[in-house]
Amino acid sequence: MNLLVVGGGGREHTIIKKLKENPSVETIYALPGNGGIAQDAVCVPEISAKDIPAIVDFAKSHTIDFAVVAPDDPLALGCVDWLHEAGIPCFGPDAKAARIEASKVFSKNLMKKYGIPTAAYEVFDDPAKALEYLKGASFPIVIKADGLALGKGVLIPQSFAEAETAVKTIMEDKAFGDSGNEIVIEEFLTGPEVSVLAFTDGTAIRPMVSSMDHKRAGDNDTGLNTGGMGTIAPNPCYTKAVADVCMETIFLPTLAAMRAEGCPFKGCLYFGLMITPKGPKVIEYNCRFGDPETQVVLPLLKTDLLTVMQAVEDETLADLEVEWSDGAAACVILASGGYPSHYEKGFCLTLPETTPANVTIYHAGDKLDGEGRLVTSGGRVLGITATAPTLKEALADAYAAAETVGFEGKYMRHDIGRRALAAMEEL
Ligand code: AMP
Ligand code: GLY
Repeated sequence: MNLLVVGGGGREHTIIKKLKENPSVETIYALPGNGGIAQDAVCVPEISAKDIPAIVDFAKSHTIDFAVVAPDDPLALGCVDWLHEAGIPCFGPDAKAARIEASKVFSKNLMKKYGIPTAAYEVFDDPAKALEYLKGASFPIVIKADGLALGKGVLIPQSFAEAETAVKTIMEDKAFGDSGNEIVIEEFLTGPEVSVLAFTDGTAIRPMVSSMDHKRAGDNDTGLNTGGMGTIAPNPCYTKAVADVCMETIFLPTLAAMRAEGCPFKGCLYFGLMITPKGPKVIEYNCRFGDPETQVVLPLLKTDLLTVMQAVEDETLADLEVEWSDGAAACVILASGGYPSHYEKGFCLTLPETTPANVTIYHAGDKLDGEGRLVTSGGRVLGITATAPTLKEALADAYAAAETVGFEGKYMRHDIGRRALAAMEEL
C-alpha cells in the first residue's frame, strides 16, 4: 500500500514510524515532511500542508491507497472532503466536523446545547460590549479568540486593566488575525489538566492512553505558552473512576451531539480536560492528534495503527479491540534557544549513531541543507521519547538520551513529568 501523511512535525514523524510497522505498507509520502522524516518516508518539501489542491493532485498521481491528514489547518480547510471527493480513503474529520476545534464559538455552543460540562461563558463580536461585561466580572477570567491561533489565542487576565488590553489585542489589534473577530469570555477553572486523544468513527470510540502536556516555555510552568515542551503518559490524575465519568458525561455525549448537528466526527478527537472540584470539564477540543502528546501515546499502542485508522474510515471501529502497553512514556522537546519568541535556524544537528531500544528521536523542526546535512529549521526541533515500565524510568531514559543530541542553542525544560510524579505519590 502507498500512504500519504499531510504535515511535517514531530507528530507526523510519530504517526509515520507507527504506520511503517504494518508489513503491507510500501511507500509513505510526507507532505511536506521534514529533514528527519526523510529517513522514514518520501518527503515532498515543495507541497505545503495548506495547499489542498496540490495535495489532492499529488494523491491522485501517486496511487495513494490511504491518506492521513494530521494538522489543524488542512483539516479546517477541507482536505479530507477533497480527498474523499477524489475517491481516496483517509483518516481525519471533514471540514464541518473540524469546526469543533476551528471555532471556539461552535464548540462552546455545542457543549451548552447538549449539556456537556465546560466553563460558563459568553460570546462577543463587539469589543465595547465585551468590556461592559468584563466590568462586572471576577478575575482571573479567560478570553479566547474564536478561531485557530497556533495555540496562542487564549489569554488569562488577572484584572480589569489586563482584560481591557486582552480585548484590544485580540479584537482591535487583531494579534491573531480574523480568529479574533469573535471572542469567548469564560469562567476560570482550576484543577489538574489531562489530555485524552480518542479514535472515533462517529459512533464508536476508543480512547487512547491519557497524557499530560507541559505548555509553558520555562521550568515550573513559567514563561510564555508554547506548542508543548514535553509530555508524559499515562496521566496519573486520570484514574479509572475519572475515565468512567468522562466517557458518560463528555465523550459519548460529544459524539452524539456532532451526529445530531449533522457533522459526525471521524478521526482523532482530542479532549483537553480539567479535573475540577466539580468533576471533569472540557477546556477545549482539538480535531486532531496533539503535538507532542502523540509522541508519548502512539508508542504505547499495541494494535496496528493503519488497521485502527482504516476501521475509523470504514466505520467499523465497534468491531475492533484497541490494545495498549501497560508501561509509561515520556517525551522531552529540544527547542531552538529563544523559542517561542525569536530564535535562529540553520544550526547543524549532531545525533547519536544508535539509541537504546526504548528511545526514539522524533524530528519536528529540521531540514536537509544543500549538502544533505540535518540543520534546525523550527522552534521545536526534536522530541526524545522513552518508554519504560514506570514513568520515573521513562523520564530518566528520555533525559539521558537528550544529552546525546547537540545543536547550537539547544533548549529544554528540566522538569517534564515532575508534577505527574508528585501526583502519583499523593494517590
Ligand atoms: P489552549 O491554548 O486552548 O490549549 O489553552 C491554553 C491553556 O489555557 C490551557 O491549557 C489551560 O491551561 C488554560 N485554560 C484555557 N481555558 C481555561 C479555563 N476556562 N480555566 C482555566 N484555564 C484555562
Ligand atoms: N499539545 C497541544 C496541542 O497539540 O494542541
